[in-house]
Amino acid sequence: MLKQIPIAVLCSGGGTNLQAILDAEAAGKLPSGHVALVVSDNAGAFALERAKKAGVETAVFDKKSIPDRKQREEAILSFLQEKGIGLVVLAGFMTILSEKFTRAFAMRIINVHPSLIPSFCGPGFYGLKVHEAALARGVKVTGATVHYVNEVCDGGPIILQKAVAVEEGDTPEVLQKRVMREAEWQILPAAVELVCKKLL
Ligand code: GAR
Repeated sequence: MLKQIPIAVLCSGGGTNLQAILDAEAAGKLPSGHVALVVSDNAGAFALERAKKAGVETAVFDKKSIPDRKQREEAILSFLQEKGIGLVVLAGFMTILSEKFTRAFAMRIINVHPSLIPSFCGPGFYGLKVHEAALARGVKVTGATVHYVNEVCDGGPIILQKAVAVEEGDTPEVLQKRVMREAEWQILPAAVELVCKKLL
């Protein structure tokens, strides 16, 4: 029996959500899991530096090394399986996964999305675009969601959500930071622990 679930975190950019998970683990708030691997589809992702600083193994599968999207995804999938990964966390990973991938890790992939699903989600809603859409619609409350990943983009069962107020004069950048600080960095590590505990 495993004592801790080996986790792979997939990132494309800055990796502040990865950092929140690493910090939670360092603080003893992730007793049921262990970040074993950080994978990126972007060789320049700052998330890779964060992983290295924390002593976590990294791997890059980018367009330059594997130009074909399908082959790139298959390479990531095989690598995660070879490494015995038990939970895949999408933390700002900007590639939509195929059904083959999501089935291979059914109920073992979770994603953080920067809105209260089902608002402002689905294909085309990622990063700053989500906050631009929320401000354009004039919502007074937004937030973040952690959900299981299945074949429907942003459509899997919801695990945790947290609401965040939209304030007068918010720009997409200001709102993004508030949603990260007040919601994403709180609920993502909490959801990772919840799911790992369930998987043990
Ligand atoms: C986060 O806000 C995350 O919710 C979002 O990208 C950002 C990544 O930031 N993800 C999506 O929009 C997925 N649809 P980070 O690299 O600093 O964690």
